[in-house]
Order: sequence, then C-alpha cells, then structure tokens
Amino acid sequence: MTIKEDKIFRCAKIYDAQYIIVPRGVSYGVKEEIMERTLSIVKPDGVAKNLIGEVIKRFEDNGLKVIGLKMISMSKKEAEGFYAVHRGKSFFESLTIFMSSGPSVVMVLEGERAISKTRELMGATDPDQAKKGTLRRQFATNIERNIVHGSDGPETAAFEIGYFFNALEIFKY
Ligand code: CMP
Repeated sequence: MTIKEDKIFRCAKIYDAQYIIVPRGVSYGVKEEIMERTLSIVKPDGVAKNLIGEVIKRFEDNGLKVIGLKMISMSKKEAEGFYAVHRGKSFFESLTIFMSSGPSVVMVLEGERAISKTRELMGATDPDQAKKGTLRRQFATNIERNIVHGSDGPETAAFEIGYFFNALEIFKY
C-alpha cells in the first residue's frame, strides 16, 4: 500500500484498526505505525530442508503478518523474469536454474518497517557474512543457495509482489 501524506492530513494505522486519515498535530494518545509490504520466498533449498515453518515463524514472531502465501514451482523463464535485474551477471544462469529446480513458497509480509525487518532476519546474502542467529547464517549452504529471499526496497517490493500475487490473493485480517 502506498501511504500518501500531505501538509494537513496523514495516514496512520492505529493498532488493529483500519488505516485512517487523521489531521496533522492531532494526537489520539496511541502508537502510530507506518506499514510496509514486502515479498519473501522460501527458495527451493529452504523447502527441501523443511524450513517453510521455521522461516514463517521467524517472521511472525517479529511482528510481520503473512497476508499472502502460496507454493509455486517457477519455470526457468519465470525465474529469469523475477531476477531480470541480475541478467548479465556471472551467477544469473546458475541462479535461475536453481530457482526453477523445485517448489518455492512465496509470501507477502506486512508490518512496520517490513522490508528492512525481513532483511535483518534473513541476514547477508552470503551466509559467511551473515550475523549469528539470522536465517541464512543458520541454514544457508552458500551465497546462491541461501534459503530465503526478501525484497530490497519499496519499488522492488511492489514489482515482486505483483509478479506472484494479484489483489484477490492478498488478505486483510
Ligand atoms: P536473493 O536475495 O534472492 O537476490 C539475488 C540472489 O542472487 C541472491 O539472493 C543469491 O541467491 C544470488 N546471488 C547473489 N550474488 C551471488 C553471487 N555472487 N554468486 C552466486 N549467487 C549470487
């Protein structure tokens, strides 16, 4: 969701209420949260290692809500489209073969700072560089087979969510 702000009004989420528009400067005495959405994938190696539940639990335990979820098997062409930004890089061919080698679980996550929070929980792309306790440090095999993906910014998130989900597959609860 794009949250629009102007000089007079701001869009906020008050606890579990719907998004509401509140006049600037007015305090309702409750915590205000600006929500984000991001796309995450449990990659074929994560699925093969039975890590679907572990990954989702880490996200949910850290305040991220799964608002869209499905298991898919990407074709080589679909993997190439998803990772089009990496076309031409040395690892592109190997990455897209790997991503189309078996089922993945794709999900839309929503929460405060969802994009950076997801990336913190995953850890660095290269598991050797990832912080202790992160998913990749704990479970990844190498920089390519790193079990999980998360969007790296708002524009990427919008593209990646739209790549796998239509509006009817994303839920509010
Ligand atoms: P991901 O977060 O899905 O984004 C792009 C993916 O490309 C990345 O995780 C890795 O799986 C893969 N990748 C990035 N850099 C390299 C690299 N140097 N060698 C092999 N694979 C890479």
